[in-house]
Order: sequence, then structure tokens, then C-alpha cells
Amino acid sequence: MNRDLCKRTINEDCSILSALELMERGETRTLYRCDSNGVLLSVVTEGDLRRLLLQGQDLNSLVSESSTNQCGKSFIFAHIKDTDSVVYELLMKHRIEEIPLLDDDGRLRSLVSRSDYFEKIPLSNPELNGTEVEHISDALASNWIAPVGPYITMFEEKIAAELETDAEKVVAVASGTAAIHLILASLGIGRNDVVLVPTFTFIASAAPIEYCGAIPVFIDCTADTWGICPESLRKAIIFSIDEYGTAPKVLITADIYGGASDYNLVSKICDEYEITIVQDAAEAFGSTYEGTPSGLQGKYAALSFNGNKMITTSGGGAVIAPDTESAKTVRYLATQAKSDQIYYHHERIGFNYRLSNILAALGVAQINSLADRVSRKILIYENYKKICADIGLQVSWMETVPESKNCRWLTVGRLDNYVVYPGQTIRSLNQKGIEFRHVWKPLHMQPVFVNKRLFSVSDNPVSEQIFKSGICFPSNLDITPGMQFRAVSVLSQLLRDVR
Ligand SMILES: Cc1ncc(COP(=O)(O)O)c(C=O)c1O
Repeated sequence: MNRDLCKRTINEDCSILSALELMERGETRTLYRCDSNGVLLSVVTEGDLRRLLLQGQDLNSLVSESSTNQCGKSFIFAHIKDTDSVVYELLMKHRIEEIPLLDDDGRLRSLVSRSDYFEKIPLSNPELNGTEVEHISDALASNWIAPVGPYITMFEEKIAAELETDAEKVVAVASGTAAIHLILASLGIGRNDVVLVPTFTFIASAAPIEYCGAIPVFIDCTADTWGICPESLRKAIIFSIDEYGTAPKVLITADIYGGASDYNLVSKICDEYEITIVQDAAEAFGSTYEGTPSGLQGKYAALSFNGNKMITTSGGGAVIAPDTESAKTVRYLATQAKSDQIYYHHERIGFNYRLSNILAALGVAQINSLADRVSRKILIYENYKKICADIGLQVSWMETVPESKNCRWLTVGRLDNYVVYPGQTIRSLNQKGIEFRHVWKPLHMQPVFVNKRLFSVSDNPVSEQIFKSGICFPSNLDITPGMQFRAVSVLSQLLRDVR
């Protein structure tokens, strides 16, 4: 049962007092009384309880001992397979605020309220914890408005604590893209170096390769976890050796949608050829790989804190370096490569990529809720799985690497039995205010990379197949189960229409 339903459900042995306390805690006026199998027995309102007390029942009486016709003997419900418009009509016809959705056996599966129909269902918006203004005001009041200041150090310490690593290895920067660029620059990547990169990722994983004048070579993904395909990786390395006389210097991995690659195998292959792994963990802050926080699987890692990520500084990112010396180089390059002299002295071309103290203050406020956000995102994913199974919508969910935790930044899956691409379904959903998205369009299919090489084990690359049938579900932190039901119900109706 999902977290929201748990807060709204009472069992057969619940007393009037416990029911009232649950209403108080959950700020609700309606509870759902279910038997031990989850079968809905009655709908109990605050008014029902008040009437029972007025009739002389005491607070310790069981709700079930009360006369059933007082406690909602008959109630309005919808079936979980009813379409979103049927559910909406029932809400309107009976002038009720909320309706329970039951499965074939009468078990309570979800609740849908009127407000679920009027609110936009966003893909993933930023969420404030409530302490942001306090921290930003403090940064302003202390006049640390320049792009240095105590909040930067504090934010780096907190990132390090989340990753269970040393704060001196963390460098807060202006964006995730800047983080990747700085890492490549620190590694000395330059003109005509080959850098391997997954094709199935956001362009920011690969754009910094071009900034450095290097050559991106794309690698296909696996069908289950959507991570790097080890066989394709090997093929790309062998090609680079044949074509350029040397193995690539760097492999950028991308932990898209919070997932991971098979890092044990990928690292083994890279070690054989002395290839440095740079982990793009922009979408995976809060995930773990075999118990180790994401961001520690390669030599370097990049995080992103842009508006739709697990936590946000509006725009921002971080480099996780392998040691203090390497982190120093990253800091140096991020601050215009200014040498430690009293006058302005530059021996290299650097960048203006440091995060500002004000934005770091935002990060310090946000990061405290990372664990809570991860568990809420995972619940959203679990709930989608249940709703789709109940409704009969067949989805092949992006799988989690064994022994690992995916923070489920976005819930994503493949609708192989339906037509998703070229996008009419997603357009129609968006017109209804339900923000589904296509999954990443593979980079080797992008006009900007038209002449670049892709390595795959198949003539029909897995990334292209996922692109055609993949979909991102609305995964906003405050999405309700009712909104999730509505999103899936409308999606399923549209897919039936285009099949
Ligand atoms: C996989 C991936 N890499 C890199 C980035 C770049 O991060 P930023 O937007 O902070 O530059 C993003 C997100 O935007 C991303 O999703």
C-alpha cells in the first residue's frame, strides 16, 4: 500500500479515538476502513464519528461496533480500470471530493480527488524545503555576495557527507556541464583525443568533449538497465586503437534517470586499456551502486543541481575529484586559472565556473532533504508500477542494477506494445496538462553529431529502440496517487486510440 493510502486507512479493530487521531495527523476528514486483505468495508467521515459520539458511544468504542449505516454502509467507488473520464463523472455526479478506486476483489488501490483533475501534472519541478530564504538571507546579510564565501565550503562538506567522502575532493561549480568540462580539462583532454561516451544520454554528457576539441565516440546501451553496453565499449576501444593508433583516454559514463552501468565490468575493461572513467552522475544524486553512493564509481564524477534535479541550486553542479591535489587543479581551472600570487598571473587558460555563495546557500538548504526526496521518488515509481499493472498497461520498466538503489529521479519505462514515437501521444498528454516526456534521443541521431561513430552489438541499436518506445512519467515530488492514476489512465486511453 502506498504511503498516502496508509495514512488514510484504518483496520477493523480501530477505535473512534484512533480514527480521530489519524484524521488529525493526516489533516483529512475521511478514512477508509479495510479488512486484513485490504478489502474496503466502509468509508468513515468525521461527521460519522461525531454522530456516533453524540449517540452515546465512547471514544474507545470500535468504529466497526458502530452501526454500519452510520459509517458509510454504502459508498461510492470506481473500479481501478475505469477510465479517467468515468471517475471524473462519478465525482461530479455524486458531488464528492474524493473517490476510492477498487480492484476486482474490492481491495482499495488508490484515491482520486477532484483537485487531481484541476492541477497540472508536471514532469519534475523544483521543491523548496522552507529553509531556503533563511539561508539565502543569511548569505546576503553577511555580504558574501561574491563568488566565494562560507556557504560554498558548507555545501561542499554536505555533498561530501552524502557521498561519504572527503570534503576536500568536492568542488562546487556553476553547472553539471561545467563540471564535466572542468574534469576533461584537468585530465588534459585536447584536440583529436578520443573520448568515449554513451549515446543514450542528455547532450551535456558529450558537449564538453567538443568544447575541448576532442572526438566523441558513442557507445550503445543495454536493454535492461539502459547503462553502457560492455561489448559495445570493447568494440569502440578496438576501433580507436585501429583508427588512431591509441586507446581512448577517457570514458564518460552517464547514470541516466538515476540508474547505473555495470561498473564492475566497465571498470575491468577500462583498466585493461588504462582508460579513465568520468562518471556523469547528474541524474543520480542519492542513488547507490552496490552500496556505494553514486559519484564514486569512476575516477572523477560530475553532479548537477539544475532546476529539475534531485536537489537544486537553480543552476549548479559539483566535481568529485579522486584526491585533494586533483581537486585543487579543478578549483584553479574553475577560477580563471589564477596562480597563487599577489598579482594576476596565469599560466593556463581557465574558466569562470565556480558556484556563487548565494546559490551554495540554496544548496545547503536543499541537501538536508535528499534522503526524503529519494524515498518519495522511489514511492512514485512503485506506485506507477502498481497502477499500470492494475490497469493492464504493459510497461517494461528501466531495471535497477543488482544490489544497487536507483533514486528514480524520473520514472521511465518502455511501451513496446504501443506506438509512442513520433510523439502525438505525448503532445496530447501535454495539452491536457499531463507532462510526460520522450526519453533522451540518442546522441548519434542528433544532427550535430551526424558524422560521429556509434558502436553497438546490433544493427538495430538498443538506444534507438528505447527512444522509439520509451517514456518519462510525470515524477514531481508532490504528485498524488490520484494524479498518478489520472496520468496512467489518460495515457492508456490515448495508446488504445492510436493502436
Ligand atoms: C545526464 C546529464 N548530464 C549533464 C547534465 C548537465 O547538468 P547542468 O544542467 O547542471 O549543466 C544533465 C542535466 O541537465 C544531465 O541530465
